[in-house]
Amino acid sequence: MKLWKGRFQKEADPKTNDFNSSISIDSRMARQDIEGSIAHAAMLGECGIIDKSESEKIQAGLKAILMDIESGALAIDPDAEDIHTFVEGELTKRLGDAGKRLHTARSRNDQVALDVRLTLREDCAGLKAQIKELITVLCKKAKQYAGAVMPGYTHLQRAQPITFGHHLLAYAEMLLRDLSRFEDALKRMDVMPLGSGALAGTTYPLDRELTAKLLGFSQVSQNSLDGVSDRDFCAEIAFAVSMAMVHLSRLCEEIVLWCSWEYKFIELDDAFSTGSSIMPQKKNPDLAELVRGKSGRVFGDLMGLLTMMKGLPLAYNKDMQEDKEAVFDAVDTLKLCLTPLIPMLETMTVLEKNMRSAAAKGFINATDCADFLVAEKGLPFRDAYKITGELVALCIEKDVTLETLPLTAYQAVCPAFDEGVYEAISLERCVEGRKVLGGPAPENVRMQADRVLGLLGA
Ligand code: ARG
Repeated sequence: MKLWKGRFQKEADPKTNDFNSSISIDSRMARQDIEGSIAHAAMLGECGIIDKSESEKIQAGLKAILMDIESGALAIDPDAEDIHTFVEGELTKRLGDAGKRLHTARSRNDQVALDVRLTLREDCAGLKAQIKELITVLCKKAKQYAGAVMPGYTHLQRAQPITFGHHLLAYAEMLLRDLSRFEDALKRMDVMPLGSGALAGTTYPLDRELTAKLLGFSQVSQNSLDGVSDRDFCAEIAFAVSMAMVHLSRLCEEIVLWCSWEYKFIELDDAFSTGSSIMPQKKNPDLAELVRGKSGRVFGDLMGLLTMMKGLPLAYNKDMQEDKEAVFDAVDTLKLCLTPLIPMLETMTVLEKNMRSAAAKGFINATDCADFLVAEKGLPFRDAYKITGELVALCIEKDVTLETLPLTAYQAVCPAFDEGVYEAISLERCVEGRKVLGGPAPENVRMQADRVLGLLGA
């Protein structure tokens, strides 16, 4: 039986019900819906809008319903229109008239705006904890491999020597920004909408501040139309999730590359890899690929939310029911991706020797060779750059490296060279010298990893 049966002569067609219903998505908010209703009922009682004794009865009844849902004694009816209707119907079944008083001075429009906030508040807390865990793993690995020389790339071409620890800490920085994006979105979401009613507030003398306090909100919404039709927080959270997925996807792309025979910089633990049904030699980084792949659906969630909202007149429109499927899918996907990614990184084997030998090829110390002529021999950088370019061409021709090119060959191109050049272009010297703030020197990596762990309070 529908809530609005007074106005209607016919029952809804089952096809209408199936299409209109949101219970399959919003039953996830059962606990938050009940917590919101308990606070609303307590406030109605405090304000004398309903009898104190009835308020208490309602609150106890709601608590019992929550316990029964959580224990499995009460199944959520899949035919109910939405979770709000189901809970109110169940309360009325149990309490009779008292149950019917719960919805005084409230609409499902302000109720759903509250429930989504309460649910996302918890989901974001869980995501923040997981992101912190991932940052912690990255910092620990960074400290362990603070001195592991690897080639740094631009255009996917070997460019200059860096350390593996430094590379990992780049991701820690991205994830720190993700954390602050969630914190920021949570601050703006910290607004309690109950009291907005369907759209025009209510004539009852509500104490909205009390409801907000009971539910742990620091502010109440200031405009009833905006109170029921604001979904900025859904889009903001979907964006925070999308940006985090971009970061995870880039990390996963590198993991896939690093696992390949062409790189062999890392090996994933068997427990976090998969095999092939036909090729016995294969060990595939499926998890990393899936994270990369799932980023697309999250961007779709964000785009869907923005598009759903952009043409809506004030205030509530049923289009907005689509908000939950999108934003919950986004937060669920990030959670799903982080869950195996954290132990996958924790258990990976880092093949330091392979990284170092990749760094020894490709002339990634050419800048350091030029810098030697500048710092030790006083040449202008542009001249030193040109001389080093000639040396590189010579090495390619002779199939040697800057490390193995004899001093006589150096001096034939530029007489200023001496033995010191070999020390200057040693990979370890190259990374140790990059001590500038933000640089890859091993001592920087250790210091930065501790700084980040300190920020996390770890
Ligand atoms: N299931 C609805 C939603 O998620 C709840 C609000 C319904 N309000 C309405 N006026 N039909 O948006």
